Amino acid sequence: MTYPYQVTDFAGYELAYKRSIEDPEGFWGDIAANFTWKRKWDKVLEWDFLRPEIKWFNGGKLNITENCLDRHLEHSGHLPAIIWESNNPEEHHRMLTYKELHFKVMQFANVLKNNGVKKGDRVCIYMGMIPELAIAVLACARIGAIHSVIFGGFSAQAIADRVHDARAEYIITSDGAYRGAKDIPLKSVIDDALVGDHTVKRVIVSTRTRTPVSMIKGRDVWWEDEIRKVETQGNPFCAAEEMDAEDVLFILYTSGSTGKPKGVVHTTAGYMVWTNYTFVNAFQYQPGMVHFCTADIGWITGHSYIVYGPLSAGGTTLMFEGIPTWPDAGRFWEIVEKYKVNILYTAPTAIRSLMGFGLDYLEGKDLSSLKVLGTVGEPINEEAWHWYNKHIGKEKCPIIDTWWQTETGGVLISNWAGVTPAKPTFATLPMPGVQPCLVDDQGNEIEGNGVTGNLCIKAPWPAIIRTTYGDHERCRQTYFSTYPGKYFTGDGCLRDEEGHYRITGRVDDVLNVSGHRIGTAEVENAINMHAGVIESAVVGYPHDIKGQGIYAFIIYSGTHGDIQLSKQDIVQTVSRIIGPIAKPDKIQFVPGLPKTRSGKIMRRILRKVAEGDFSNFGDTSTLLDPSLVEVIRDGRV
Ligand code: WTA
Repeated sequence: MTYPYQVTDFAGYELAYKRSIEDPEGFWGDIAANFTWKRKWDKVLEWDFLRPEIKWFNGGKLNITENCLDRHLEHSGHLPAIIWESNNPEEHHRMLTYKELHFKVMQFANVLKNNGVKKGDRVCIYMGMIPELAIAVLACARIGAIHSVIFGGFSAQAIADRVHDARAEYIITSDGAYRGAKDIPLKSVIDDALVGDHTVKRVIVSTRTRTPVSMIKGRDVWWEDEIRKVETQGNPFCAAEEMDAEDVLFILYTSGSTGKPKGVVHTTAGYMVWTNYTFVNAFQYQPGMVHFCTADIGWITGHSYIVYGPLSAGGTTLMFEGIPTWPDAGRFWEIVEKYKVNILYTAPTAIRSLMGFGLDYLEGKDLSSLKVLGTVGEPINEEAWHWYNKHIGKEKCPIIDTWWQTETGGVLISNWAGVTPAKPTFATLPMPGVQPCLVDDQGNEIEGNGVTGNLCIKAPWPAIIRTTYGDHERCRQTYFSTYPGKYFTGDGCLRDEEGHYRITGRVDDVLNVSGHRIGTAEVENAINMHAGVIESAVVGYPHDIKGQGIYAFIIYSGTHGDIQLSKQDIVQTVSRIIGPIAKPDKIQFVPGLPKTRSGKIMRRILRKVAEGDFSNFGDTSTLLDPSLVEVIRDGRV
C-alpha cells in the first residue's frame, strides 16, 4: 500500500495546508477517495459550531473494518498486522497477519451476533492489552455496534457509571490482566460493577490469567466457548455492516471540569480519514515499518495509533501488554531490539521515569532500527526531550511532539517527522485543516506572534467530537459555548515569534497526571464519599515524573485519631471510587478552605501552597477569612 497523500517535504506541507484552508472540501474529498466506500458521499462537509452540528462525508456508506482489514488482504494478507508482546518476557510473542486478524475479527463478530448484539448497540470492553482487545474493538465495528473501551485501571464504581451512562447491554472482559508484577482480576471487578444491575444481558469473558472467576448463569459466557460454537456453525464469513459516514463508531469517556466523565462520541468516516492521514504524515509511516505505540487501548491514543491509524494504513502495529519498568527499566529497549521497531510513540512521563533509572538499562541494547520518535499526552520538558533525542534517537531520529485530545480524535498540532522542523517542547505547526487561534479570557482573538492565550480551533477537522453521548447540550456547553463559533480546547498555549505553537497545560480544572486526564471535581467527589470528610479541594502541583501530582486539601472530622491512617483510608476511597490513577499524592488536613464571600474556593491560593510558592498570594482581601491562608501555608505537607 502506498499513500498518495503522504507529504515528504516542507513545501509539500505548506501546499497541503494552504489548500486545506482554501478548499477544505476539495482537499479532504481527494484524500477520502483513497479509501474503500460502499457508496460515495454527497457532501464533504456541513457544519455549524453554534449548535454544534458537524457532518463529514455525509451520505457516504462504508465500514471502517473493510478499510482496516479487507482491503489489505490481496497484497498484504501475509504481512503482520499486530505483533503482541507479553507482559512476561519469557512468554512467546504472538503475531497476527492481516489474513489472520481479518479471520478472527469476523469470527468474533459472529460471536457478538450470536449473543444478540446488533448495529447501534453499545458494548463496553474492559480488558488488558491482549490481541483479543483489538479483535473485540474491530468486531464491534464490523457489525456496527458502538464500542466503549474502559481502561483496565478503572474501579468497579467508575465502570458502573460508564456502563450506565452508555446504556450498554453487553460487556467484553477477561478473567484477569497482567500488568508488571500485578494480576488484575478484571472479571471480578466487572462483577462488582454489575451488582444490582439489570440491564447488562451478556458478559463475554476471554481467558488470560486463569484467575478463578464466578460465571453467572444466563449472563456470562466464555469467549473460547462462543468461538467454538461459531466454528461448528461452519460459516467463517461475516459481512461488514454498511454504516453511514456519520454513524457512531465509538464512545470514549474522558474527564472534564465537572465531576462526571463525558462520553466523547466519534463517528465513522471522518475519524477514519483523520487517524489515517495523521498517522501517515506526522509519523511518516512507510509500508513495512514496525510501529510501537506504548499507550493502552483504553485511552484515545491507543484507539487512534495502535488500532485504527496503523491498520487503516496496512501497517504493523505492536501491542505491549506490560509496563516500561517491569521486570526492569530496560523493557522498552528490549522490545525495540527484538522487533526492530522503527517508530516509538510514548508519553513524556514514561521518558522521565526511565531517565531516572539511568543509562545502565540501555547498555548493549540495539536501538538502530529506530527512525522516528514521538511523544503525546502532556507537555514535554527540555531535559526529557534531550534525553530522548540523545540516548534513544542517538540524535538521528526526528522527535514529533503531538498535541491532541480525546475530543480531537487524532493529532492536531505536531511537527512531521523529518518534514517540518522540530523544536524542543513545541508541538509546532497545525495539521492541514486545523486552524488554531489564541483568545483572551474575554474571547477576543489574539493576533500576531509572540503571544499567549487560550487555544481554540476555528473550523472542524474530520475527527472532531460530534457529541457527548446522551447529552448534546453538555457537548455544546463544554466545547462550543465559552467562545461562540470556536471549539475551545481547555489548553493554554504560546505562539512564538516563528508562529510555532507550544502547549502550556490545561487552563481548566483538569489535571494531567502521568499523561492521564483527571478532573479535580471527580477526585473531590470521591474524597467526599469518605465518612470523615466534610469538604475537600483538589489541585495539581508540578511532579518530577508524573508531570502533575494530585494535592488534596481536606476538612476532616474523622473520629479515630491516627492522621496517617485516616489519610490512607481516604486514598483507599478514591481508589475504590475511580481507580488507582486518581489517588492523591499529598493530603493536607485543613481547618477551612479559602473561600470568597460568595462561597467560591480561591484555588489560586491552594495551587500556590501545593507548589510551595509562598512568594505572592495576590489579593486575599475578598476572602471570608484571610487568616486561613497562613494556617494552610504553614500546614503544607
Ligand atoms: C494534554 C491525549 C502538551 C493537553 C491524546 C490536552 C498535551 C490533554 C500534548 C488531552 C502535548 C496532549 N503537549 N500537552 N503534545 N498532548 N496534551 O484527552 O492538556 O487524554 O488537552 O488525549 O493532554 O488528553 P487526552
